[in-house]
Amino acid sequence: MGWNPYNAFNSSFNDTLIRQHVDIIVNQGYLAAGYRYINLDDGWQASERTKDNRLSFNSSKFPFGIKDLADYVHRNGLLFGIYSDAGIQTCGGLPGSLDYEDIDVQTFVDWDIDYLKYDNCNEQRRPEQERYKKMGDALNSATAGKNKTIYYNICEWGTSNPWLWGPGVGHSWRTTPDIIAFWPSIISIIDSQVRLTEYGGPERGWNDPDMLVLGFERIPYDEQVTHYAFWAALKAPLILGCDLRKVDDKIKALILNDDIISVNQDPLGLSICQVYYKTDNDISFDIWTGPLDDGYVAILFNRGIESKSITLDFKNHCRLDGTIEVYDLVNQLSNGNYANNYTAVDIPKHGVEFIKLIGGNNFDDDRPCLNYS
Ligand code: GLA
Repeated sequence: MGWNPYNAFNSSFNDTLIRQHVDIIVNQGYLAAGYRYINLDDGWQASERTKDNRLSFNSSKFPFGIKDLADYVHRNGLLFGIYSDAGIQTCGGLPGSLDYEDIDVQTFVDWDIDYLKYDNCNEQRRPEQERYKKMGDALNSATAGKNKTIYYNICEWGTSNPWLWGPGVGHSWRTTPDIIAFWPSIISIIDSQVRLTEYGGPERGWNDPDMLVLGFERIPYDEQVTHYAFWAALKAPLILGCDLRKVDDKIKALILNDDIISVNQDPLGLSICQVYYKTDNDISFDIWTGPLDDGYVAILFNRGIESKSITLDFKNHCRLDGTIEVYDLVNQLSNGNYANNYTAVDIPKHGVEFIKLIGGNNFDDDRPCLNYS
């Protein structure tokens, strides 16, 4: 969980903006809620390597250097992430790390970096696995024997099935192209995760459907709730990408909702999967469910443009029987006890009812996921 400037600022970020965000994260409840990585994206670098082949920083954006900024981040109790690229140049045309893996990791270690996002532009048609493994090996050897882990985010966009080879190489892998802050992008990413939900988990690493676009005013509130519910329950890394100086109170309360965050951070670490869908001209909705350490979670998702009631069948959609308390995770209140099923009434257009099921009996360990293999 953390924050990265890219979705709101692209490469137009500098030392001042990052320090402002550190202060907001620490002072306005984001750190207490779990958001603790401050990550740079493409655009921190100087346009050329130094004479001794080191990556360097853009000194007009970062006049005090990256180490000084990392120290500021750490002094504030946060972790610090950086960006590079498994090609000869980054997507923004700055120097990449391909064939400079060891020397660049040395620079990152010297700067006390805790996280690396490693992108996939200008890759010279060299195989993904080889390029990403080389950086993973460089990170491992530079930190071996030290009490230090550098979180390694494989930002390969899902082009060569990184969910198959990512485990053991990195901690998470992008499963999609870049998110854009509007509904078609959000729903197409949700759809692209249907076949991937089994690949993430605490033993393997995490599917990364890209950073959050929460807090972008042009996205209606109900769609932001849908976005956050899915990313939380898919067990995606939650990296905020909005301008935190401008988030309104309603969205801030959503971002800081500790029930939603608890679903994301649940110790079992299992993603929801799709268990039902219905698509026709007038009605289009689906149901996703999954186990939690202390209950079950369900998303009843109205894809349509009219409000819609959706019924969750405890037996068929969750393998649960008995009496079950239905807890509304977004509004943070109990909807009462139910047997057999629960109907969420009038879910708005593009909206969800995001609920936790408490109690009851899980009568079958086989999950009711639809089979897409
Ligand atoms: C790629 C990545 C994005 C971002 C940009 C920066 O598109 O997928 O997340 O890092 O590069 O140039």
